[in-house]
Amino acid sequence: MRQPADAAPSRLLESRYFLAQTVARHAGMMALDLFRRRDQLVIEFKGTQDMVSAADRDVERFIKNQVRAVFPADGFLGEEGGIDLADAEFVWVVDPIDGTACFVNGMHSWCVSIAVLQRGEPVIGVVFDPNANELFHARAGSGAFCGEKPIAVHAGQSLKDGVLGVGTSFRVGVGDFIPFLEAVLRDDGMFIRNGSGALMIAYVAAGRLIGYFEPHMNAWDALAGFVLVREAGGQCNAFLDNGGLLRGNAVIVANPVVWRRLAAHAGLPPVAAPAAVAAR
Ligand code: IPD
Ligand code: CA
Ligand code: CA
Repeated sequence: MRQPADAAPSRLLESRYFLAQTVARHAGMMALDLFRRRDQLVIEFKGTQDMVSAADRDVERFIKNQVRAVFPADGFLGEEGGIDLADAEFVWVVDPIDGTACFVNGMHSWCVSIAVLQRGEPVIGVVFDPNANELFHARAGSGAFCGEKPIAVHAGQSLKDGVLGVGTSFRVGVGDFIPFLEAVLRDDGMFIRNGSGALMIAYVAAGRLIGYFEPHMNAWDALAGFVLVREAGGQCNAFLDNGGLLRGNAVIVANPVVWRRLAAHAGLPPVAAPAAVAAR
């Protein structure tokens, strides 16, 4: 299935969209098998509350091998393996298991997250939850879907109209998170955290959560979800600004009205960020 050099751009995107979905499904089933045998996994700590096991590494290697077998010149940024061929036209940004803390502790909120960037712009987003057998997928300009079903962001106009997803980590300080929660509660909002930021952003795209905030995420956590939210009619902050691909950034996603409210609570300028991930 190698691509001829003169293939039209849309064909180049279409074939990667198909591959991203296929690989996410296979990787998710591989991870699910490892999840069911997780008592055999050795857990290591990369930092405070930041775990990894052979499952993360094996699933990422599987995804990378599958991508490279078809598109050997594509770049690849994985949580476990780092960046490779960063200057390629297409770069795959992959979290093999998002929600590792849930995975190793026997909870079901984890997923495989795959984004593809074309010339630096996120154009494909795929999040697969093997426990629920839900595949969230979107391609720039084509809408967002859960399986076959089109999805759209929550229509609520204030925080009291829905439930907000939040996340945090020890990559930021307590003070980067707690004031935001207080502001949400004072605004009649309520929040949940399920341990998988990528899955919760997909839930924003599907209208299950009214929005999502996290003071810092890495590109492999966030970018697939950003394509989903944008294609589902939502707004995203300019995640890739200031070296976000390699350094990460804050994440705010929601419909445009709720987005402005969340940005205010997070202490960001009240002005909307540049349209979604980047202009289309
Ligand atoms: C983490 C999860 C978590 C989020 C963290 C991420 P990991 O990813 O998405 O929900 O709050 O910022 O690092 O470590 O499970 O792949
Ligand atoms: Ca992650
Ligand atoms: Ca991970």
